[in-house]
Amino acid sequence: MSNDARIPHVSQYGSVDPAPPSPLTRISELTERLCDEGLPMFQRMRAVFSLRNERSDEACLALCKGFTSNSALLRHEIAYVLGQMQNTVALPTLIERLGDDKEHVMVRHEAAEAMGAIGDRSVLPILEQFSLDPLPEVAESCIVALDLLAWVEGAEFEEIQC
Ligand SMILES: [Fe+2]
Repeated sequence: MSNDARIPHVSQYGSVDPAPPSPLTRISELTERLCDEGLPMFQRMRAVFSLRNERSDEACLALCKGFTSNSALLRHEIAYVLGQMQNTVALPTLIERLGDDKEHVMVRHEAAEAMGAIGDRSVLPILEQFSLDPLPEVAESCIVALDLLAWVEGAEFEEIQC
């Protein structure tokens, strides 16, 4: 492997990720890595980005299993990539994470933003409900997601948007 291969690269989603994809390719093996509390965080994140790059419903649902992780950091990263994947199969799980007041605020924030990024307007009432959450990070994320959904809707009807 040349040194160049180790330089962080821009992913197919346009992001520079905190870890490169895993060399593993099977969803079952990647799910095992994702959920293994004994593995270093870097290895578990590599599984997150491989599953994201897979793009399938199955990969998306495998990522949702990772919300059982003890690590709020990992759960937040999963919510972020589910937003990147823009797959509606993740919505029930994201709604559950946003609505769980025992969940870490960072995860609830990212779940709300992912719901906006996915772009399905069925989540409007839930985002409206949690835009009144007592935690400002949750409330503000819901407002951003609602604004994004409104902007996308407007962009569909108007040629020129700022
Ligand atoms: Fe975030």
